[in-house]
Amino acid sequence: MTAFVTGATGFVGREVVRQLCVRGTRCVAHVRPDSRSLAAWRARFTELGAEVDTTAWDVGALAARLRALAPAQLYICIGTTRHKAKSDAISGDIYEAVDLGLTRIAVDAARASEARPRLVYLSSVGASASARSPYLRARGKAEDVVRTSGLPWVIARPSFITGDRDEARLGEKAASVVGDGLLAVASVFGGRSLRAKYRSTTPDVLASALIRVGEAGDDRIVEGADLR
Ligand SMILES: NC(=O)c1ccc[n+]([C@@H]2O[C@H](COP(=O)([O-])OP(=O)(O)OC[C@H]3O[C@@H](n4cnc5c(N)ncnc54)[C@H](OP(=O)(O)O)[C@@H]3O)[C@@H](O)[C@H]2O)c1
Repeated sequence: MTAFVTGATGFVGREVVRQLCVRGTRCVAHVRPDSRSLAAWRARFTELGAEVDTTAWDVGALAARLRALAPAQLYICIGTTRHKAKSDAISGDIYEAVDLGLTRIAVDAARASEARPRLVYLSSVGASASARSPYLRARGKAEDVVRTSGLPWVIARPSFITGDRDEARLGEKAASVVGDGLLAVASVFGGRSLRAKYRSTTPDVLASALIRVGEAGDDRIVEGADLR
């Protein structure tokens, strides 16, 4: 079985790659061709036993790669932040451009490849095409692209993802600590399902859940306790 991972260099994507390699799945880690750290990622992924792919973010080029590799799963763990978009010189609605735009390219490529991989889409709790937040709106639209692709799919909606990142995201860390504390209090007063849905998670737990639901046979949205 072959798996293709986009966003492989991300906090979650790199853990998906590592766990797939440990399980003995042939794993192709996609790294953007213009990555400033391409050599380091190549060394890291090769050491894990993964293959590195640097195909451009182009539907035709990616479709040709997917056709050749015929992956059973296509993991989409892509997304930007304000900080990253700035260093990538992306302006306007950055989430439409990256989170939605690159997901659309990956899905169109998968469809055109005729390999019919299962799309394993890493989304977010609260994603909705009608959300007020540009981030959640782009995520919701991307979910729609995945769900209406005609390919098998599964969508994961985690809450905050915590742990030791290379870069500091203090706001995210603080929000998860405060959020988990409030949820712990809420659960004492009967808010157990609320806690399960919004409790923070870690990349290792999430990656393991993504692989599990990605290899299962049903199209569904997974969140809360099902992501642990
Ligand atoms: N962090 C959270 O608390 C949280 C919670 C719920 C959902 N999520 C969702 O899960 C996704 C993945 O999370 P994460 O923490 O693993 O994110 P991350 O560490 O920021 O990784 C994002 C991935 O997207 C790639 N990427 C970003 N902009 C790109 C661009 N313009 N062109 C090509 N590739 C690009 C990055 O590649 P480079 O390394 O080359 O930049 C990296 O592989 C997020 O985008 C987010 O929407 C996150």
